Amino acid sequence: MVSESDREAIEEEEEDIVCLESFFINDDYQLTKFTFGSHVLELYCLQSASTDFDLTGQLVWPGAMLMNGYLSENADILQGCSVLELGSGVGITGVLCSKFCRKVIFTDHNDEVLKILKKNIELHGHSSGPNPSAELEAAKLEWGNSDHLGEILQKHNDGFDLILGADIYILMFDNIFFIYPHSTMIDLTFIYTV
Ligand SMILES: C[S@@+](CC[C@H](N)C(=O)[O-])C[C@H]1O[C@@H](n2cnc3c(N)ncnc32)[C@H](O)[C@@H]1O
Repeated sequence: MVSESDREAIEEEEEDIVCLESFFINDDYQLTKFTFGSHVLELYCLQSASTDFDLTGQLVWPGAMLMNGYLSENADILQGCSVLELGSGVGITGVLCSKFCRKVIFTDHNDEVLKILKKNIELHGHSSGPNPSAELEAAKLEWGNSDHLGEILQKHNDGFDLILGADIYILMFDNIFFIYPHSTMIDLTFIYTV
C-alpha cells in the first residue's frame, strides 16, 4: 500500500524525469535518403542518438541497412505477406517491406521513437510502388509484455506471416519463437522457418 506522501513524492520524481527528458531529447529529425538496390526510401531520422532514455531507435542502424539490402534482393519472400516488425525504430525496414507486403505492423516500446515512427508511416502511407495500398500501422510493443501483444493479436487475429527485426536483441527470440510457432522469422544473421 503506497501512502499519500509516498505517492506525491513519486509523482514529483516523475515530473522531474519528464522535465529532464524534454530538455535532453533531440527531435531535430532530418529527411534522409537511403538506397537499397533499385529502391530509394526517404524517412525522418537522426544521425546520432542518446542511450540515456533508450532513444537508440531515433536513427537507422547498420543492422537495418544489411537487412534491407538482403530484403531488396529477396523481395519475393515478402510478396503479399503480413509482417510484424519488432523494435522498428524509425521504421526503415517496415517501410521497405510495405512496398511488397499487404500489411506491416511496426512496433517499438519507446514513446518518443513511436512518435517519429508514426510520422514516417504517414509519409509512406500512400506511397507508390508495386503495393501502394498496403496496411501500415504503428503499435506499442515491449517485448514480453503480454498486454501489448494481446492487443495486437486481438486486432490482427489472423496472425502474421513474417516476424522480423533488425539490430534488436537476440536473447528475446525464444519468447517470440514460442508465441508464433507458425511464422517465419528473420533477423540480421538468421532466418528461421518453422
Ligand atoms: C538498435 S535499435 C534498432 C532500430 C531499427 N530496427 C534499426 O535497425 O534501425 C533497437 C530498437 O529496439 C527498441 N527496443 C529496445 N528494447 C526494446 C524492448 N524491450 N521492447 C521493444 N522494443 C525495444 C528500441 O527502442 C529501438 O528502436
